Amino acid sequence: MPNDTGLVPPLPRADIIAAALPGLTAMRKTLPAMLFYDQEGCRLFYRITELPEYYLTRTEMALLPTLPTDIVPSGMRDGILVEFGGSDETKARFLLDRPGRPFSAYMPIDVAAESLEAMRVRMARTQPWLSVLPVVGDFMQPLRLPGVAGRAMGFFPGSTIGNLDPVAAAGFLRSARQSLGEGARFLLGADLRKSPKVLLPAYNDAAGVTAAFNLNVLRRLNREAGADFDLASFRHEAVWNDAESRIEMHLISTRDQEARLADTAIRFREGESIHTENSYKHRQETLIQIVRDAGWNLLKVFQDDAGLFAELLLQA
Ligand code: AVJ
Repeated sequence: MPNDTGLVPPLPRADIIAAALPGLTAMRKTLPAMLFYDQEGCRLFYRITELPEYYLTRTEMALLPTLPTDIVPSGMRDGILVEFGGSDETKARFLLDRPGRPFSAYMPIDVAAESLEAMRVRMARTQPWLSVLPVVGDFMQPLRLPGVAGRAMGFFPGSTIGNLDPVAAAGFLRSARQSLGEGARFLLGADLRKSPKVLLPAYNDAAGVTAAFNLNVLRRLNREAGADFDLASFRHEAVWNDAESRIEMHLISTRDQEARLADTAIRFREGESIHTENSYKHRQETLIQIVRDAGWNLLKVFQDDAGLFAELLLQA
């Protein structure tokens, strides 16, 4: 929540360490994908969205304006739009700026404190009629939204849901349904399963921006949590895991080495990986199964003509 000054505070060092250390000291090393999004990570992700190989953002941005106006229920007046993992209002504006202005409040929840703060300042100017209520934090945490029953819509674009395995995805959607209350709507944007010939370049671009994005998580741990990772001794790798239907990003240690984080030694063998992200690419049927497991009613699925990306409209 915004504090008294209205400013959005950054993520404390202790929170970053608490998020990173368990995975780095596990048998198979992992880091949570939410750690990518410091200021530099947000900047690099934005560059990814403009890469020729990264079709996701471009496809969703073309799809959203084609959705019919009644995706926002006509009874929604003075409603609240809650965006999960949103630190850029570009996509939300397709819903917020609809004729009749169905929403009087917009709550973006994201770990990218700097981006949220920039958005709050920007939107005070561009959408003065809207109360913008940024929440810095992991959107997976349960939310308390008192008294919004029938007036709340959730928005989870960009295929961020792909960072979660199917059980966690259903768990998240279930808790979002509880937070948003009876009568809520939800618009979920998700990338679809397709040939690895299309998927792999999207996560292994020729210009090396995705590699820089992946490696930046170590730079962030060095800068913000006092770690001492040698960035030159890790390389980016993106692989397609067909059985799990996901792209995996890894940082591979190119030598035997040791790094320290918060007085803990982390040893790497040459070739050992830190698994930094999953991006699930489900079939439409699997996505429908996941939203139903979470207790939502499916109203409609929208897709682009090439069938790359889907928007699922849900009702509580
Ligand atoms: C923001 C999670 C949707 O998985 O495609 C982009 C992040 N990772 N390139 C994705 C990402 C590597 C992105 N999401």
